[in-house]
Amino acid sequence: GAIGAAGLGLSFGTGSVAAVEPGDASEWTAEHASNIERTDATTAPVIDDGAEPISDDYWIWDTWPLRHRDGSIAKIDGWQIVFSLTASKDLVPGARHNEATIRYFYSRNGHSWQEGGTAFENPLGHHQWAGSAMYDESEDQIYHFYTATSPEPEFRQRLALAKGASFETGPRGVELTGTQEHTIIGAADGELYQTLEQSREQGIVYAFRDPWYFEHPETGEDLVVFEGNTPTGGDSPDDPQSYNGNVGVMRATNDELTEWELLPPNLEAIEVNQQLERPHYVFNDGKWYLFVLSHEFTFAPGLQGPDALYGFVSDSLYGDYEPLNGSGLVVANPESAPFQAYSWLAMPHGNDVLVESFENFRGLDDTSRGEISLDEVGHLPPEEQKDLFGGTLAPSLKVQLQGSETRVVNELKDGHFLPSGN
Ligand code: FRU
Repeated sequence: GAIGAAGLGLSFGTGSVAAVEPGDASEWTAEHASNIERTDATTAPVIDDGAEPISDDYWIWDTWPLRHRDGSIAKIDGWQIVFSLTASKDLVPGARHNEATIRYFYSRNGHSWQEGGTAFENPLGHHQWAGSAMYDESEDQIYHFYTATSPEPEFRQRLALAKGASFETGPRGVELTGTQEHTIIGAADGELYQTLEQSREQGIVYAFRDPWYFEHPETGEDLVVFEGNTPTGGDSPDDPQSYNGNVGVMRATNDELTEWELLPPNLEAIEVNQQLERPHYVFNDGKWYLFVLSHEFTFAPGLQGPDALYGFVSDSLYGDYEPLNGSGLVVANPESAPFQAYSWLAMPHGNDVLVESFENFRGLDDTSRGEISLDEVGHLPPEEQKDLFGGTLAPSLKVQLQGSETRVVNELKDGHFLPSGN
């Protein structure tokens, strides 16, 4: 990719000066993906049973911490806050996506969490999918980016921002206060990013979601990466061109962050994978580590990879992204529990990263134990489906970063989550 002004490390102070010049997307190629292989360095330990779910009433899955503008974990008067997609435990796990509501949880120590309330009063969309939350301390205001999604079976996705709320703190907890204003800040345009209508031809899932806010570490520009698809004209699930996941990029054009322009994707997985989910960055040693998640079932015909955290490293936003560990694989579920966790989120943690995720389906597909496949779960009686599903935070993992190599070094048994903040 081309190196824009960003590569020169210019700083324009206000953050509103256009410094990045978009370049070509890097490609996650079939050759990279054909190297995907679980090793000790890239495989998570099997999750032991017995962790108490953090909520009695709600399934919890994708989760993100409240962070400062510079990406560090925020603490408000000593409290850490996370937001999660949640849905009632009355629902079978497969029905939760269509009822997803964002709720917050708070903690003093970053691993035991108490349940707060809903994150929004009148959010956009029938339900809300993943996002990111930035706390501007001087404004005492949260910028909450999320996905406004329309009901099943359409699942049209647009990127939204809620502004105006903050947290009031006390000795026992925190409470969300203030009146929020919601704005749509991004929608698929059909040229850079495939629309729902275009994707219908392909007959597989489509994506325009999961906005992840970050401030450009050199230029100060306000940016968002998100999960999109490149319009390729693929026309069936058998057509490799139908597997066209990308990492989308958007840049704010006003200081209020209510107006944004779509920029071209900076990473594509054409003929490789349909979903590069929840893209997010960790900046380490001057390098840009871009992480995404993906599923076994969204790899193109002829390619195989586990449900896992994948990652790429570059020296700039539109630089050449090299897949970590040669293939992109960073944290795979173990072979004996291939769906035990999902939706990993890597956060800076000294020279390492801390990787949070949720407990997904336990013990499936371990044919040596005569267990069932993921496809069969939805046909089981509701109580059996619920028994197989974790629906809570999984033990976090510590992963070392060394240039373009990574290694899972530790499981944080006692808990669930976060770097300790400031
Ligand atoms: C990842 C994900 C996200 C989406 C959410 C929907 O687990 O697919 O991309 O926002 O789950 O439930």
